[in-house]
Amino acid sequence: MYDHKFVPANPGDSRAPCPALNALANHGYLPHSGRDIGLLQLIHALRHVYNLSLPFAFMLSFVGILLCGHGFFRLDLQGLAAHNRIEHDGSLAHGDAAPGNRFAPIPVNKSMFHTFLVYAALGQGIYLEDFMRARVDREAQLQKPLDSLRAQIGQGEAALAWLVMRDDDGKIPLGWLEQWWGEERLPDTWTKPHRVVGILEARTKANVVADGMAKLRLQDQFRRKC
Ligand code: HEM
Repeated sequence: MYDHKFVPANPGDSRAPCPALNALANHGYLPHSGRDIGLLQLIHALRHVYNLSLPFAFMLSFVGILLCGHGFFRLDLQGLAAHNRIEHDGSLAHGDAAPGNRFAPIPVNKSMFHTFLVYAALGQGIYLEDFMRARVDREAQLQKPLDSLRAQIGQGEAALAWLVMRDDDGKIPLGWLEQWWGEERLPDTWTKPHRVVGILEARTKANVVADGMAKLRLQDQFRRKC
């Protein structure tokens, strides 16, 4: 369970295209303003709320601040929207950066989010396999395919979201998805992962997502030919 109340972002608050970090700021595990976040503060929040291992929390925080931070290694959440640093086209619930724009849209795109929820509707939650299907369909809409690094980031986000938000049945229940991804709040009945989530586990799950997506693309090609 978590111990900080949810307070939605105020108009001037800085937010990212990342549901996990916005939820941390909305609950006050990160400064509610979303500004001037330090490395240790970010590491602590990721460990405390999502039960990431120290090396994993360090790695994500260090890379995030290095690529998108400002001043003496500080981060404003909106800096994470810098296009093609970590942010990439083909997000599941965020629009792509407009041509020539340095920053991608930050708020959740309601219509894309509803499309995404359809993948969860059948099993009343999103399983890892549903993430694979959703990503394949979303990436198929892109004018230009994602390069290998950005494709891997997309797979990593799906794997990590599943690892930290899934229930004991291996799905992120529909209601949790609506609250966490849609409203950027920690779901009322969610509890953090029982076991620490480390780099190896996240890498392994991201590879499972990558392999699953490759298989689905082959099946799709085969179906189109028949
Ligand atoms: C438990 C930790 C985390 C989880 C579960 C998580 C999950 C996610 C998910 C699911 C998305 C995709 C949003 C979408 O497709 O609409 C996302 C996006 C993003 N996250 Fe996180 N995240 C975590 C930590 C971090 C950290 C530490 C950083 C950097 C400091 C970060 C930076 C980003 C950025 C820049 C995006 C936008 C990528 C895009 O274009 O889709 N995330 N995150």
